[in-house]
Amino acid sequence: MTITETTDTTPLGEGVTRRALALVTDGTTDMAADVLRVPLGYYRDPAVLVRERRDILERTPLALIPTAQVSMPHDFVVREVLGRSVLVSRDADGVARAFLNYCRHRGARPAEGCGSARRFTCPYHAWTYDSAGQLVGIPGEEGFAGIDPTDHGLVELPSEERHGFIWVVLTAGAPIDVVGHLGPLDAELGAWDYASYGYLTEQEFPAAVNWKNGLEAFAESYHFPYVHGTSVIGQNTVANTSVHDAFGHHHRMGFPFNWITALADDPNADWDPTNQMGIIYWIYPNLVLANSPVGVELIDILPGNDPVSCVVRHGYMSKVPATNDEERAGYESMYEQVHMAVSDEDFTMLPSCGDGVRNGQHHHMLIGRNEIGVQHLVRVLAAELDFELG
Ligand code: FES
Ligand SMILES: [Fe+2]
Repeated sequence: MTITETTDTTPLGEGVTRRALALVTDGTTDMAADVLRVPLGYYRDPAVLVRERRDILERTPLALIPTAQVSMPHDFVVREVLGRSVLVSRDADGVARAFLNYCRHRGARPAEGCGSARRFTCPYHAWTYDSAGQLVGIPGEEGFAGIDPTDHGLVELPSEERHGFIWVVLTAGAPIDVVGHLGPLDAELGAWDYASYGYLTEQEFPAAVNWKNGLEAFAESYHFPYVHGTSVIGQNTVANTSVHDAFGHHHRMGFPFNWITALADDPNADWDPTNQMGIIYWIYPNLVLANSPVGVELIDILPGNDPVSCVVRHGYMSKVPATNDEERAGYESMYEQVHMAVSDEDFTMLPSCGDGVRNGQHHHMLIGRNEIGVQHLVRVLAAELDFELG
């Protein structure tokens, strides 16, 4: 049995592929030291949710928007994040910023949707902001004599653009340090060069399951044959086998493709792990990056209004941006397949776990030694929350 509970990580290279092949050959997986017991309160206690929001989700840099989605000056996206409206906008000089999308007059939303805009005009009384969030127009200005427009731009949130994402802290005035946040994962995440990818699409949907349970579904392949048996996910991968490496709070997992076994006898073998397995990162606290040889799925999961509800956003970026309709259609059909696996398979299964969490009287869940990635998620978040496991 392999026990990997270490922060000594293998760089993403041939060594990871060799580890994965050895696991497949031996019919095993990276394993945690013991079974982990997780009290149901971790998922259903409203007090835990309050602390998650206050101490983690509203204080930690979240990779809210991919660079590729707002690549040009004046590109913008409005997103609902933990119940508030956030505008991410790239200004005329190419600087991306994040704002609370609330008008400084009486609070309506100046921006909606996404696209390209030099100006955002509030629909209520037509106060106008530029793409850097500055207030540039007040109709009937004499009604606001003495008000300095430069003090009444949109409230900016701390943000940084790094490694192909615009990272945002949801609390105005709070510090932000994305390098510190990524810690040992910083260099590896940078090596993917996600800023060069092509943004394709995304879909958002609610689900009746705790947000952490949602993320945990992307940290084990134990469920693959049962939930994904007939789809692209189950068909291409070796079930219940994964390489796990913790990078501080974050982790990387490799889920070997079936064809990895061919490497053993091939003198010209391609040991590049990105071609031999799905490489999945959990970016603490709420983002999963699921890489295939052609692109990356962005799976962002945040709590809903009660502990057993969440909001899932499932986006896709292709490694090589589409340059014509045919290429775009190819990526779209790929996205449809993986989105079907997420929405019709994972998130059709998961509400039943939500029901078990809500109504169960069995005190705790069991997370197996083989579910080492799930154990990592639970241990990291429980430690941040001072939540006692066991
Ligand atoms: S609320 Fe925006 S202009 Fe009045
Ligand atoms: Fe799944």
